Amino acid sequence: MSNPSLLILPGDGIGPEVMSEVRKIIDWYGAKRGLAFDVTEDLVGGCAYDAHGTPLTDATMEKAQNVDAVLLGAVGGPKYDDLDFSVKPERGLLRLRKEMDLYANLRPAQCFDALADFSSLKADVVGGLDIMIIRELTSGVYFGEPRGIHKEGNERVGVNTQRYTESEIARVARSAFELARRRNNKVCSMEKANVMESGVLWRQVVTEVHAAEYSDVELSHMYADAGAMQLTRWPKQFDVIVTDNLFGDLLSDLAAMLTGSLGMLPSASLGAPMANGRPKALYEPVHGSAPDIAGQGKANPIACILSFAMALRYSFDQGDEATRLEKAVEKVLADGLRTADLMGPEGGAPVSTAQMGDAIVTALNASL
Ligand code: IPM
Ligand code: MG
Repeated sequence: MSNPSLLILPGDGIGPEVMSEVRKIIDWYGAKRGLAFDVTEDLVGGCAYDAHGTPLTDATMEKAQNVDAVLLGAVGGPKYDDLDFSVKPERGLLRLRKEMDLYANLRPAQCFDALADFSSLKADVVGGLDIMIIRELTSGVYFGEPRGIHKEGNERVGVNTQRYTESEIARVARSAFELARRRNNKVCSMEKANVMESGVLWRQVVTEVHAAEYSDVELSHMYADAGAMQLTRWPKQFDVIVTDNLFGDLLSDLAAMLTGSLGMLPSASLGAPMANGRPKALYEPVHGSAPDIAGQGKANPIACILSFAMALRYSFDQGDEATRLEKAVEKVLADGLRTADLMGPEGGAPVSTAQMGDAIVTALNASL
């Protein structure tokens, strides 16, 4: 049987340097655990625009459709701010999500013990935090029509449309319930049913799917604004949160920051199963391209490395190996290694991106 295939899209800014560290981890699994991958690399985002005039070529899109998993670094940068909307780096990412139909975006917010003091919240509020936000990723106001800016009389009007079909809501709700069963069996669904019809439908469909197929899972509903408030007040009340594309974008940044550093958090975007039973999948760190520190060896590679751990778990059925990698990350943090983003006010000497990657490889070796 051939090796599972991975398409690596480092992207812009710090993307390439954090992805170099992930390559070390991938190589380690090939050499030490007999888990070899066929890896190809390509361009996405601003670098693809520079090379081809588009943030994602059809050829790259085609490759993404045909691999077992895509691993992406980050896209965007100030250099591209004035580009037309249709060719902005972010469009490359949105096209991948949409055309691969990656409707369930898993964004864990987990607080590493060694970093509990980094949160803007008290350590006892965030210590041991482990929640999962499932954000609908292929519909809602991000893609709804009509959209655009047009003229009405003598002023301009900007329009976007929040739109959800019943089946779009049902499938992401199922993803949330399935995941909850493998965790603490609790789902909280968030929308704005008090002001939006799409929110009323969201609540109805989630409730129906629950009653018909998942009544063993504990389900609650919250308005998304109250959800934001509860997330900062007492985040440990949640296990799995399921919400739409835009609310999920906001709530996942909020949840990420509870844990102390955006530089730590991975994500998985999953679609329907392919012929081989694996879900269509793209893995990427939650953080952006951080152009201000790009190329300086300061970036934290952990979010991207943990994204590969999610790939091991959700695409390749290697949950134990994913846990091994997560434990290796915990070990280097417990040993006190810190990239610049993790330096507290007491200071100290940060390690470089590459040193962090090397230390994680060393911890993996020690795990054997
Ligand atoms: C995210 C980002 C993206 C989004 C941008 C880069 C298009 O904020 O993945 O959360 O808004 O979805
Ligand atoms: Mg976002």
